[in-house]
Amino acid sequence: MVLPPAVVAEAQNLRAELERHNYQYYVLDRPLVSDAEFDRLFRRLQQLESDYPDLADADSPTQRVGGSPLPEFRQVTHRTAMLSLNNAFSEEEVAAFDRRVREGLELENVEYLAEPKFDGLAISLSYERGRFVQGATRGDGYSGEDVTPNLRTVKNVPLRLRGQAVPDLLEVRGEVLMYRRDFDALNERQRAKGEKEFVNPRNAAAGSLRQLDSRITASRPLRFFAYAVGAVEGADLPDSHSAVEDWLQNLGLPVCSERRVVHAVDGLMRFYRQMGERRSGLSYDIDGVVYKVNSLAAQRQLGYVSRAPRFAIAHKYPAEEANTEVLAIEVQVGRTGALTPVARLAPVFVGGVTVTNATLHNEDELRRKDVRIGDTVVVRRAPRMRWNSACPQPVRYAALPWSDCRTRPLRAAPAG
Ligand code: IVH
Repeated sequence: MVLPPAVVAEAQNLRAELERHNYQYYVLDRPLVSDAEFDRLFRRLQQLESDYPDLADADSPTQRVGGSPLPEFRQVTHRTAMLSLNNAFSEEEVAAFDRRVREGLELENVEYLAEPKFDGLAISLSYERGRFVQGATRGDGYSGEDVTPNLRTVKNVPLRLRGQAVPDLLEVRGEVLMYRRDFDALNERQRAKGEKEFVNPRNAAAGSLRQLDSRITASRPLRFFAYAVGAVEGADLPDSHSAVEDWLQNLGLPVCSERRVVHAVDGLMRFYRQMGERRSGLSYDIDGVVYKVNSLAAQRQLGYVSRAPRFAIAHKYPAEEANTEVLAIEVQVGRTGALTPVARLAPVFVGGVTVTNATLHNEDELRRKDVRIGDTVVVRRAPRMRWNSACPQPVRYAALPWSDCRTRPLRAAPAG
């Protein structure tokens, strides 16, 4: 059937319009229209595509809802390897990194780009002439799983790059994650449906991205942040990493606004401390910050050792989560008479301190979570927990069953 030109034009306009609204909403956080108006445009496009099947286009915004399940994931080879980062855990290790960089470059003072280390999962997005054609997990760094249909459902992943000067080929590297508030809402829904809750946003993001049925992925609120490029053809890269990230942002990709250009160990440590203070207030989990030598020429000069760059390092924060065993469950009586069950734990180092007890909130929560003596639990620092205002001495740690992907250890006899 020949497509009427007016229909083709209307579909094209709707697609451009819907992608613009997605961009405004999910990348810029500045919606231009109401949800109802967005839905109206979306349904009109769906209608046209169902009336005229020849309009089908993999990068239509209607494809963001997912499609038929795959039998398995295909393996794909990354054009350029996705490397890992070396870690630093102390100021001394950061100073040693900066010293190696200065010696390698024969410079007194080096400029770095500092940004959060997102606690999600690394992926690579490929764009050909501005169209999103493939998305893959990191895998072993050289090849990963083709999760293209799933990544199409991630609302802030552009299906087409913006602007006139799009490269012929672009591999974008970044992280898929789930905002904390979206994670809480997802768990709320899982609970209401009587389905398994996720232990943390990272597990929820990983589990959601690795679904053979992309409609399930579409129902999960995933987000993407770009932080580097792999292969690039048909464009001249700017000469610094910070400018590369600005360039990615101008192409319509979501880039985190927390990035800063800093100098020397002092600048790195100041950024680390400032992010550390703001960490619990961010919308997403981070497990450290990443420092990258800003000049791309200097990056090339420094090169790689084994599988990690010499020009970058991850400076980690103390873990906010750890596994431990429930030794006993006691009940605290609050000033107002409210009862709070508290788990006594085998001491565990988390969030920079040793934790020996954690709130189980209240009896309902205790029953729902079904935490028992002898269980292994995940202890998590407080930021995400709901406060029980009646709790006399706030217990700053919350315990969750450690049930994801591993078998539970044998239980001791239930508490009396
Ligand atoms: S840059 C050549 N920047 O950390 C450098 N990585 O342990 C490539 N990650 O696999 C990585 N946030 O998944 C970079 N802002 C960030 C990051 C980041 C998280 C992850 C990435 C990588 C892992 C390395």
